[in-house]
Amino acid sequence: MRKNILIVMGGGRPRGNTAQLVDAFARGAEAAGHMVESVSLVKNEVKGCLGCNACRYGKPCVQRDAFNSLIPKVKSADCIVFASPLYFWTVSARIKAFIERFYCIAEEDPDSPLGRYER
Ligand SMILES: Cc1cc2nc3c(=O)[nH]c(=O)nc-3n(C[C@H](O)[C@H](O)[C@H](O)COP(=O)(O)O)c2cc1C
Repeated sequence: MRKNILIVMGGGRPRGNTAQLVDAFARGAEAAGHMVESVSLVKNEVKGCLGCNACRYGKPCVQRDAFNSLIPKVKSADCIVFASPLYFWTVSARIKAFIERFYCIAEEDPDSPLGRYER
């Protein structure tokens, strides 16, 4: 079945290893019939969550950056691929910051299999 795939690129070098792997993955996924879109977090700066909880009271995120414009892409994706170099044995700060911002679009799951948490 045709899927809508969003690739979030957390590498710093536009032609680095991460970018090359993203290109190869995108070519393969497109050849398999899927729709693929890539977003670079260098071109679209996304800051980390401040934990202010404004979003928990129905207010928009206080951070002013590219995340708001990326929300429709996140919500319409069937699959999100995080493409990151290994930085100090984990994902890059850009990818981590992007994931943190899911807090402001998460909805409470009343039937969570593992107790409290959002989906
Ligand atoms: C800030 C920084 C931290 C890194 N930390 C690690 C690491 O912990 N382990 C590792 O094997 N390589 C590490 N590397 C090497 C990168 O993972 C590697 O060069 C990778 O190919 C960079 O991705 P890019 O080619 O897309 O820029 C680090 C590189 C940088 C710049």
